[in-house]
Amino acid sequence: MRKFGIIGVGHVGATVAYTLVCKGIADELILIDKNEGKATAEQLDLQDAQARLDTRTIIKTQDYTELEDTDVLFVTSGNIHALDNVSGNRWAEFEYTREIVKDIAPKIKASGFDGVLIDTMNPCDAITHYLQRETGLSKQQCFGTGTFLDTARMQKVVSDVFDVDPKNVTGYVYGEHGESQFSAWSTVQVNGLDILDLAQDQDLDLSELEEKARHGGWAVHSGKGYTSYAIATCAVKLSEAVLSDAKLACPCSSYSEKYDTYVGQPSIVGKNGIESVTELPLPDDEEAKFKHSADTIKEKFATL
Ligand code: LAC
Repeated sequence: MRKFGIIGVGHVGATVAYTLVCKGIADELILIDKNEGKATAEQLDLQDAQARLDTRTIIKTQDYTELEDTDVLFVTSGNIHALDNVSGNRWAEFEYTREIVKDIAPKIKASGFDGVLIDTMNPCDAITHYLQRETGLSKQQCFGTGTFLDTARMQKVVSDVFDVDPKNVTGYVYGEHGESQFSAWSTVQVNGLDILDLAQDQDLDLSELEEKARHGGWAVHSGKGYTSYAIATCAVKLSEAVLSDAKLACPCSSYSEKYDTYVGQPSIVGKNGIESVTELPLPDDEEAKFKHSADTIKEKFATL
């Protein structure tokens, strides 16, 4: 039995639920929301879809005790749709989301949950660290989507310029899932060619692309008031890597021993959650940006 839980079934959580059910990944799914009516409505809507699906998912609601034997728990409450956030900075959500996690973390702990927790809440890195600390889960078991999403946005922006599929752009966005993130161009390749060489040949300004990737979320948010598909797709892919022990190399918010904080960095995701962190040898300017971003998160986390 592959059992999943979702805490917070707003736009992101509901999209995660729908994706899991449509892909037939979940045998059992527990939906929890502070608004019981919303959780029940999502349950009913997904159950009504069952007759047209090829796979079966048992869907339950609101019961934290169900988390005891849950394999993967998504924490998806209060993402950027939750506030009228016009500042373009995810720290604006901090006051709001930290109250949510203060409420749910003890409940997760009390449930005896001992699987892998994937957090999408913002500010993602700090909230993930808080969830890890307050649930008593290990740093392996608890991680955030972090720059997995920003990296997807970078891949898309670069793919547009070079007219290739985004999957053929590889490399990493490092740092905070927020303003201090950066595209580590030294790691990025397009169809296997170093982007730094391509940019030089074509007189391309990479900083413009970096800025576009960083603000990808706000471009979506300003049009529909929240983001959902890209973040949900990232979260589900990470959960699939856990369930199949895929040892997926990807950037996500994992704990950095070096900087003593959760931060977006290349990690290996498998059945235990974060199997390992990959410390790539970055050039000095990129390492300095990484340190700056990690310090930014650490400083704010200290206020939690
Ligand atoms: C985004 C939200 C999840 O960037 O922070 O889409």
